[in-house]
Amino acid sequence: MNLITYLQAGYPGLAVITTEEARAETEIGTVCTALNRQLHAWSSTEGLVDLSEGRITQCADPLDAFQLLEELFAKREPQTVVLLRDLQLHMDQTDPMLIRRIKDILRIAKTSGHALILLGCRLNLPAEIDHEITRIEFGLPDASALSAVMDGIIASAGLPELEPAVRESALANSLGLTTTEAENVYALSVVEAKAIDPAIIAREKANALKRNGLVEIVQSNTRLEDVGGLENLKQWLVRRAGAFGQAAKVYGLPAPKGLLIVGIPGTGKSLTAKATASAFGLPLLRLDMGRVFGGIVGQSEANLRAVIQTAEAIAPCVLWIDEIEKGFSGSKSSGGSDGGTSSRVFGSFLSWMQEKEKPVFVVATANDVSQLPPEFLRKGRFDEMFFVDLPDAAERSQIWEIVIARHGRLTTDFDTTALGKSAEQFTGAEIDAVFVDALYDAFLENREPTDLDMVNAMTRMVPLANLMDGQIAALRNWAKGRARSAAGEKRTGPARNSRRIAGMN
Ligand SMILES: Nc1ncnc2c1ncn2[C@@H]1O[C@H](COP(=O)(O)OP(=O)(O)OP(=O)(O)O)[C@@H](O)[C@H]1O
Ligand SMILES: [Mg+2]
Repeated sequence: MNLITYLQAGYPGLAVITTEEARAETEIGTVCTALNRQLHAWSSTEGLVDLSEGRITQCADPLDAFQLLEELFAKREPQTVVLLRDLQLHMDQTDPMLIRRIKDILRIAKTSGHALILLGCRLNLPAEIDHEITRIEFGLPDASALSAVMDGIIASAGLPELEPAVRESALANSLGLTTTEAENVYALSVVEAKAIDPAIIAREKANALKRNGLVEIVQSNTRLEDVGGLENLKQWLVRRAGAFGQAAKVYGLPAPKGLLIVGIPGTGKSLTAKATASAFGLPLLRLDMGRVFGGIVGQSEANLRAVIQTAEAIAPCVLWIDEIEKGFSGSKSSGGSDGGTSSRVFGSFLSWMQEKEKPVFVVATANDVSQLPPEFLRKGRFDEMFFVDLPDAAERSQIWEIVIARHGRLTTDFDTTALGKSAEQFTGAEIDAVFVDALYDAFLENREPTDLDMVNAMTRMVPLANLMDGQIAALRNWAKGRARSAAGEKRTGPARNSRRIAGMN
């Protein structure tokens, strides 16, 4: 929190937006002590409390509180910070008197060197005062803050000291939780396992994030070897695998920002996104962009902020945004149907992408680039954009091998080279579907599947590429000169390969 800087610079109106009121107040208290400022707090239930002397002045009405503040601020010394809890609730029906009062008090605070801090879980101010209040990010607790919470639980449960390694992994697994959530999770772990158990913490964190509904921790054991073809893209990832480690940090290697994978449906984009996390050895967070756009005004911005805070707390991590165009499609018509919300949220997302300092590697996938605003594709947002085309014959053979092995069969029982050639126009997803279809045939006849079953299943399936010829051509055209080929530079441009095979037929 950069509260210190703002207070030192004499900002009279600040706002800390958080659900962690207690932790925020503790931190504000620490800052005030460090800066030698008096701290007072107002709430409708407690009135105005001088926290250093414990003196309480009853005043449930914020207007009365501002009257008291005016008297308090009349003197320059001692310099005072006043915390206003849930003032938002008093401003939901705009009261002209209250707004005027706030403006007056801010002016007095400015000239006499005092400050007001609005504290609450949301802030939605009328235009009259909106630009006078500076919002301060209050991130999720870091490992040292969580460590203190953990110590509290360990002490109150009378548990022995944790082994350093266990402690470290328990703390790493806690990142992304609020202090209250962490406290609950530690307490649960003590009840369940009579100990602080990193595995329980990981499980409960996954549940907590799922309940919040924006990001989800994906447990995936997909490796890069499970992706057929896409050699160029895989190599790119392998080269960066060590970039998030300690050695890279010491060396001064900047952490990669992210990757955009665009391509034809069913070609392995989501699969690669999942494999990225295991290639990098990082936790995988999946973001549902659609959910970021919540119902209430201001909710989408708050949602995005929460997502960013969670990802940054868990960092280093991979943040996977699947089908990103679905979330952002409204932003093209800025100020359009949704009052410009998606365009605004999209703007904050882009600036975060540009400026983020925490090692959060974003992997975004997209099918329909026409839905993406051009700013999105500008250089510098992502380290690289890759285009995934239909696989060629060699890549299809590789995919057959992966699919066969995944379904628990031996690749040596099949002629994968021939199958690769026959599966012209089929995507990886379709090859998988063909295999399953063939498995059904063989199962009915109580035997193992053969090459012939595969060929028969292929004749029954019309590959999507046959139906979306125009769209695929448009996508290839778009990718030319903009995106790197995921397969390898040799294949950029129209599918030379499939034409050659078509010519042979
Ligand atoms: N290159 C590939 N190698 C191995 N398997 C693949 C490949 N491409 C697709 N598959 C298989 O197809 C399934 C679906 O692929 P995936 O979800 O990655 O496609 P996608 O490109 O994300 O498609 P969409 O655009 O429809 O989301 C995978 O789970 C995998 O079984
Ligand atoms: Mg996908």
